[in-house]
Amino acid sequence: MHPSINDIDTKRLPKHIAIIMDGNGRWAEEQGQERLYGHFHGVESVRNIVEGCAELGVGYLTLYAFSTENWDRPQQEVDGLMSLLVDTIHKEVPTLNKNNIQLHVIGDRNMLPPAVNLVLQEALDQTAANTGLNLIMALSYSSRWELVNAVKHIAIDVSEGKINPHSINQDTLQQYLSTSKFPDPELMIRTSGEYRISNFLLYQLAYAELYFTNTRWPEFRKENLYEAIVDFQNRERRFGKTGKQVKNEAEQV
Ligand code: IPE
Ligand code: IPE
Ligand code: MG
Repeated sequence: MHPSINDIDTKRLPKHIAIIMDGNGRWAEEQGQERLYGHFHGVESVRNIVEGCAELGVGYLTLYAFSTENWDRPQQEVDGLMSLLVDTIHKEVPTLNKNNIQLHVIGDRNMLPPAVNLVLQEALDQTAANTGLNLIMALSYSSRWELVNAVKHIAIDVSEGKINPHSINQDTLQQYLSTSKFPDPELMIRTSGEYRISNFLLYQLAYAELYFTNTRWPEFRKENLYEAIVDFQNRERRFGKTGKQVKNEAEQV
């Protein structure tokens, strides 16, 4: 039995949920289909989960849609994924606007084909004024790319005298990440039974609660999301302190 929406304490929602949407290819193969069939069905899960997060009032949802390493997949799969992206982004803009969702993108946009960048820019511009859920698509993203990029830009600003290297602290680094405008994820979900991070938000996930499920991404629906959130709400987040300290602090509020 999956928990229902009523089992969730909406006052203690994770502010930011990040998802590694994995298992499209295996799901398709299990159906005797091509991998792209899985990606195609994965879009339905994206719609369902975005809607679920918007309904609950989650502030930020980051979806890992394509990693830097995914460029090394067979060309036919990469091309299929890129055209699926163009189609989906184009079609979804009215729904995003209807639900007051603002789209953001993190990743190396220089690697994306011009057609993808074009529809992406349109979607970013057309949803820029929305004030509800922030939907962050990680496209051509990898954490090591992001960190190297941040270091490069910090070095440039140091060499131009814009920052004093001795004043560099965690806030400085945070400001140079592609996620500078977003709080760190509090809950990270990975579907399809793989227990790894695959170059996703390495810095930002420092204190995230990790949730792994065997469900393949094309089968992941709101009920599965609720299950992950209920699990999150039953955990004690200690941030290095003792359980006793955490309990005392909770009693004081
Ligand atoms: C996740 O599903 C989607 C992308 C990485 C684009 P996969 O394509 O990785 O599916 P599996 O892991 O091979 O089943
Ligand atoms: C991670 O999934 C990237 C995305 C979900 C977009 P992969 O399927 O590419 O990761 P690995 O290769 O199994 O680590
Ligand atoms: Mg995979």
